[in-house]
Amino acid sequence: MTLMNNTVLITGGSSGIGFKLAEILVKNNNQVIICGRSEEKLKKSKGLIPELHIIQCDLSTKEGCLQLSEQIKKDFSSCNILINNAAVVHKNNFYTDISAIEKSELEINTNLMAPIYLSKLLMPIISKNENAKIINITSGLAYLPRAVYPIYNATKAALHSFTQVLRMQLSNTNIDIIEVMFPAVDTPWHNGNTPKIAISADAAVNEMLVKLSKNQKEIRIGKVNLLYKLYRIAPKFALKKLNALS
Ligand SMILES: NC(=O)c1ccc[n+]([C@@H]2O[C@H](COP(=O)([O-])OP(=O)(O)OC[C@H]3O[C@@H](n4cnc5c(N)ncnc54)[C@H](OP(=O)(O)O)[C@@H]3O)[C@@H](O)[C@H]2O)c1
Repeated sequence: MTLMNNTVLITGGSSGIGFKLAEILVKNNNQVIICGRSEEKLKKSKGLIPELHIIQCDLSTKEGCLQLSEQIKKDFSSCNILINNAAVVHKNNFYTDISAIEKSELEINTNLMAPIYLSKLLMPIISKNENAKIINITSGLAYLPRAVYPIYNATKAALHSFTQVLRMQLSNTNIDIIEVMFPAVDTPWHNGNTPKIAISADAAVNEMLVKLSKNQKEIRIGKVNLLYKLYRIAPKFALKKLNALS
């Protein structure tokens, strides 16, 4: 499977991994649409890559997901690939943080509910087109949690589980269900505190595209493969090791 001649919607393509994907995919595909909350970031992205189509929306709300899907139906009915990439993270202490519940809701709505809702809304359009795919972006933390992210890990574990079920339920349809699990990647996500082990967005996205071209459905990037193996052989040791990383 090669990502060529498609109409691709990348949620959260105005930064980091999504932007890098957009930059590469725009070269060989018919249309690449990105979205995000910040109009400024979207305009900056379009300034750098004029071929991009941009849609401002807030996917943490049901209305935002609906608005995006309506616009896709209206203006991009050839859309055949949805990449659920947009996400947020909070590093906090669930016990002491007085806004822990608001932060949790934002993470659950953006990272889990939006991919679920967008899949439901866009499957009827995507399935009408050839080479139909939903690609969910998760993380190695779908297997094992890092203690500094009380809710983020859980959203990715839930998205991993949902993706597995969707793949089974849609096995008799023309929609491919793919998951890409990233390790730490050097993007604005880390707010200037990028972990030492982080790989570049370029390396992460190139590995993703190579593995997609080999038709892999559950794609583990970089050290996520090692984490996966360690988690299966020695889960307690793996959890300790993961949480000892700086
Ligand atoms: N970077 C890493 O170390 C790492 C590791 C594993 C997995 N991942 C996963 O990779 C994906 C991309 O991460 P990244 O590192 O590229 O992050 P990033 O640079 O922070 O980009 C996140 C994107 O999501 C958008 N976004 C956030 N909330 C949104 C909302 N409510 N509605 C619409 N768009 C929204 C942001 O735009 P606005 O802020 O303008 O809305 C931005 O375009 C995420 O799913 C993340 O979980 C990242």
